[in-house]
Amino acid sequence: MACFFRRSIAAKLSRSLQQPEDAFISAVSAVPVLKKQQSADFRLSVNSLRLSGVIPSRGDLQQQTEALARELQKDSVVEEISSANGVIHFRVHRKLLVQKMLEPFEKEDNSFGLNSELFNTLQRGTTLVEFSSPNIAKKFHAGHLRSTIIGNFIANLKQSLGNNVIRMNYLGDWGMQFGLLGAGFDQFGCQEKLRENPLQHLFDVYVRVNREAEHNEQIGQAARDFFRQLEQREAQATSLWQQFRDITVKEYQQVYQRLGIHFDIYSGESFHQEQAQEVVQQLRSRGLLKTTEKGTAVVDLSPAGDMSSLCTVLRSDGTSLYITRDVAAAIDRKEKYHFKEMIYVTDKSQENHFHQLFQILLAMDHSWAERCQHVSFGLVQGMKTRTGEVVFLEDVLDEARARMLHNMSQTQTTKEMDNPEDTAEKVGISALIVQDFKGPLRSDYKFDWERMLQAQGDTGVFLQYSHARLCSLIRRNEGVEAGTLDPSLLLEQRSIAILQHLLRYDEVLHQSAQDLQPKHLVNFLLKLSHLVASAHKELPVKGNPDNVAQARLRLFSGARSVLASGMRILGITPVDRM
Ligand code: ARG
Repeated sequence: MACFFRRSIAAKLSRSLQQPEDAFISAVSAVPVLKKQQSADFRLSVNSLRLSGVIPSRGDLQQQTEALARELQKDSVVEEISSANGVIHFRVHRKLLVQKMLEPFEKEDNSFGLNSELFNTLQRGTTLVEFSSPNIAKKFHAGHLRSTIIGNFIANLKQSLGNNVIRMNYLGDWGMQFGLLGAGFDQFGCQEKLRENPLQHLFDVYVRVNREAEHNEQIGQAARDFFRQLEQREAQATSLWQQFRDITVKEYQQVYQRLGIHFDIYSGESFHQEQAQEVVQQLRSRGLLKTTEKGTAVVDLSPAGDMSSLCTVLRSDGTSLYITRDVAAAIDRKEKYHFKEMIYVTDKSQENHFHQLFQILLAMDHSWAERCQHVSFGLVQGMKTRTGEVVFLEDVLDEARARMLHNMSQTQTTKEMDNPEDTAEKVGISALIVQDFKGPLRSDYKFDWERMLQAQGDTGVFLQYSHARLCSLIRRNEGVEAGTLDPSLLLEQRSIAILQHLLRYDEVLHQSAQDLQPKHLVNFLLKLSHLVASAHKELPVKGNPDNVAQARLRLFSGARSVLASGMRILGITPVDRM
């Protein structure tokens, strides 16, 4: 494992510089594998030691680096030390590299890289991740899809690193639109259609009643009446609303399952109606509330207290807003689930909303709001299917599966598959995910079916293909005896490059956990797949003596295991054949 080498280099530095070992752990990092062969495995930035105050930052950096490099001794772990441009490079003994990196795979518990001491500095305890959060009767747009897969990635990552994770879906299940929906259902609704195709029917009713309300005054009145009944919890209106909600949750659960996603809690804005009023009382008694000329109640968030930045928490008719419910929801979650950190995942148009939310919580002395975070992402343009616009999550998944199935139908393996639809679904979903996760989350991107489904290049299909190929290699060589590994049989450049790359796995996970960006992991796995593809060509298993075949198989099955583990964290289910 990478930890073994990092520790050993840190110990060396510690002896030389008279500082505790831990001061050096995060300064030692694995060298990324580039095109040409590379001899060093780890690097130490002397400048970063200066910056963190571990060593004095006086004098010439280059001289200091060279002096330190000269002082460090080679030993049974490190076989070469060199320095250049303020960086010291370390090369570890080749056989030890092979042995230490392949050892963890003997356990077969897929925990490679997941128990790294690098994670000790991360936030521990319970992480509440709120994501997906669509609105009942409305369109499930690209923003909801992004929130769904990004939130799932964050939850998976935190869980893999040992946190207790709560996955929450916060439905848009309250507000005047439910007055409209209720009034609309009275007029155009149909229980049978609601049972047969619930999401479609609710959506249709909602679209129709909105259109109608534009020129029909009575609809507006009926909607207000219906919503008032809801707010007063009158039985009939409430039971219809409850039916809409239950049926929607049930439908969503099924579609999320296709994505391999589950939620521990289906919460929603409706849960915090009454609490929102309490929040307003608390704000008032703390003197944080001001009333405007229009009769709305606002919190003044300007540092100077001159109302230059304010947030409305109560309408003039006394009803609460989206933000008020969010304040109430956050406090309620803290009390119920005692989270250490909470993460909200939505598109960047809500950045200001969450900024204000956290400011209000802090103003109310909820210091835990410091550990609340909004992960925001950019917009997706042009998410369409062949038949038109995407309205439901199901539409995108169906299209991905159909297109993938079409692409697969040409190949021989597809004909031998038990369930090609299932494989096409999993591969199609990985294409969606990789397209989405490749760049920084805050960037906008253009949705492109053709490109994301290509088998070559940096796509989810390529990841799946690489995984399936490794599985097939392992299957075809099941007869090869597993003896003791002879590390001297894996010293070719192609094998070493894979192992050097694996040295970075825990660093990549650590970095992902810090900035919550999936691109590090995606790029790591794509690179791993490329390295494996080149190694596969040059280092065949078949036709070689047993000990060579066996050593190579070890290497490839280790790579497969990391590929699968990383894919799972991204939210991708690896397939065994395709
Ligand atoms: N339902 C909202 C929407 O579709 C997203 C909810 C985000 N979460 C929150 N706590 N406000 O835009």
